[in-house]
Amino acid sequence: MALREIIFLPEPILRRKAKPVTKFDKELQTLIDDMIETMREAPGVGLAAPQVNIPLQLAVVEYAEDEDDEEAEDMDAPPKPKKLYVLINPEIVKKSEEKVMGIEGCLSIPGLQGEVERHEAIQVKALNRHGQPVKLKVDGWMARIFQHEIDHLNGILFTDLATRVWKPREDEEPVDLD
Ligand code: NI
Repeated sequence: MALREIIFLPEPILRRKAKPVTKFDKELQTLIDDMIETMREAPGVGLAAPQVNIPLQLAVVEYAEDEDDEEAEDMDAPPKPKKLYVLINPEIVKKSEEKVMGIEGCLSIPGLQGEVERHEAIQVKALNRHGQPVKLKVDGWMARIFQHEIDHLNGILFTDLATRVWKPREDEEPVDLD
């Protein structure tokens, strides 16, 4: 495995619609493993192939699912295990009417964050790393990450959707999704 270089705006590949994956060969498996390693190293909770200069409909996501009720969460409880997803040719097939605001950042747009409205829950049809179809239902922050990554595969960045964008203050923890 190897780390891949993350590219930044204004690299034009970040603005193009990525091509569907058609070959599930060894090269693709290496790319997926490299993307997982690069995401963890960044660190981020997701990474889309165009961000490592590959124009394919492929994204990886790794995040520990939200608790429904954070107040009730036992502070001494062990952290929730992270879930890893490999999304290939993903398509959002259902969206909740409910939308939620949240603050996002992007590894490809360093030094900016913004407030973005997203569907609270979505259903996604995709292929896994072996080319088998999967249907995924996600909500909360995981649904936000999925929407951010799927946007990347269509050349859309969070700054296109944000109601406001700003530079975090130096003492503010940056929110990098991917
Ligand atoms: Ni991003």
